Amino acid sequence: MCLIDEAIAYIRELFKENADGHGFDHSMRVYRNAMFIAEGVACDRQIVGLAALLHDADDYKLFNTAENANARSFLAEHGVDRETAERIIAAINAVSFSKNRDRKPETVEGQIVQDADRLDAIGAVGIARTFAYGGKHGRSMDESVEHFHQKLLLLKDMMNTAQAKKMAEKRHQLMETFLRNWEKENEWEVIIMGPKDKEQEWTDEIPDEEEQDNEYEPTYRDGSAKNECWEET
Ligand code: NI
Repeated sequence: MCLIDEAIAYIRELFKENADGHGFDHSMRVYRNAMFIAEGVACDRQIVGLAALLHDADDYKLFNTAENANARSFLAEHGVDRETAERIIAAINAVSFSKNRDRKPETVEGQIVQDADRLDAIGAVGIARTFAYGGKHGRSMDESVEHFHQKLLLLKDMMNTAQAKKMAEKRHQLMETFLRNWEKENEWEVIIMGPKDKEQEWTDEIPDEEEQDNEYEPTYRDGSAKNECWEET
């Protein structure tokens, strides 16, 4: 078995009880995204692949390990030399959103894996993962929707590589469409609280893509005209 296959078998076992979107399937999508991005970039593909597969092997949300103990012991047990192992660990540590909010990873391999991980937080999979994770941690659906505004809508402008920027654009648009329709379908509040604008008729129709504003406005929830209007009634 090659090292990549060994790593896949290792994380399949490691994540076997996890079903909140941070498990085996997530790591496999990150691996696939990373290898796709790596095709157009001068980099060490072995480091990209192993860092992608092992990037959540010591995630603090799931494992109580220190100093990347799981990833390190996998690499040592499979005969990866020390220098290569350190480069893989450095790429893994560059991925975390909370640890690296304003910092771009120093190595190209780290940049690729960070992009690959962020791509899996947006788009159709990102939407599903947000609600799966929120549900598991007792968050309401509205609280999960807030997470789009606080984090997920920012990610497309934070990609390191040109390929990831391109991939993020489509996924971002899908989230905007989702949020517009989410708000549309939640307009039942109008029935109880009165229409926000008496002139405006309530409709169940979802506007055509072309008729929709291209720019979604995340400020909408933070004191926009619509919210103020609701408070008055
Ligand atoms: Ni991840």
